[in-house]
Amino acid sequence: MNYREEIRRLKERKSAIILAHNYQPPGIQDMADVVGDSLELAIAAKATDAPVIIFCGVDFMAETAKILNPGRKVLIPVKDATCPLAAQLTPEMILAARNEHPSAAVVLYINSTARCKAYADVICTSANAVKVVSSLDSREVIVGPDANLAAYIQDKVPGKYIIPLPAHGHCYVHQMFTEDDIREARIRGGRIICHPECRPEIQKMSDLVASTGGMVRSAPEAGTWNVFTERDMGYRLRTLYPGKTFYMREDAVCEDMKKISLEDLRDSLEYERFEIILPADIMEKARSAIERMIEIGR
Ligand code: 13P
Ligand code: SF4
Repeated sequence: MNYREEIRRLKERKSAIILAHNYQPPGIQDMADVVGDSLELAIAAKATDAPVIIFCGVDFMAETAKILNPGRKVLIPVKDATCPLAAQLTPEMILAARNEHPSAAVVLYINSTARCKAYADVICTSANAVKVVSSLDSREVIVGPDANLAAYIQDKVPGKYIIPLPAHGHCYVHQMFTEDDIREARIRGGRIICHPECRPEIQKMSDLVASTGGMVRSAPEAGTWNVFTERDMGYRLRTLYPGKTFYMREDAVCEDMKKISLEDLRDSLEYERFEIILPADIMEKARSAIERMIEIGR
């Protein structure tokens, strides 16, 4: 029996649901019940009544699913799939920033650890960051850990004073995109869509700035796109829109998003590993910030 058949059989036997992020390798996307951006996956994790959730992504995403489902088993097929951007922020940094700006609200990007989320007023993703920040009463807003997303919010919500924490937090994959990529795309033709984790100057020179879910929704608007985000987003877009052309940077690879193989997914289902376990107090504090975001919506 091959891995795909075994995964289907085990999934049925365990009544499990497989959630996968848009950056997962093609074989994993093919096996998932839901493929989406981090907001869509958090909503799917909250909505499911499956007793076992297998999260194919990086750890902060699986942790979010667990926080929203403390009574269910949430598994991630490999232990060390993490997000180097999330690692750039610590609870100590948040406490120091709160001391320095006592009237500021704290909005944390979903790409943050559960320990950090416990100190946030509300969570956001790139799909709803503008809506989340606009909904707040405070004029000063601490946003972390992505300084490029913070700059994007500042541009869209000029009435707020956004304090990026840390000042230069960034994702190494999206930081790769430069003005040379913009120039090459303009010569090639087609529209340019970039993720808000790209540098502010790249955001300004693009035709659209969107989360990976926003990219899926915008794709019908044109026939050819230059997509400035992780490479396997291209697989997602080509699967949904086979008649369209999507240019990706083949070296824009998030190493941690590539760690899960079909064999790992099969083993995760069979041996129910690796279970996400978090301290109850951290889950409780983080849950209210995540649920507040889900209520605000997209
Ligand atoms: P999305 O929420 O747009 O899927 O982004 C998640 C992410 O990790 C981008 O690098
Ligand atoms: Fe983290 Fe960047 Fe990978 Fe997204 S692409 S999971 S932000 S390292």
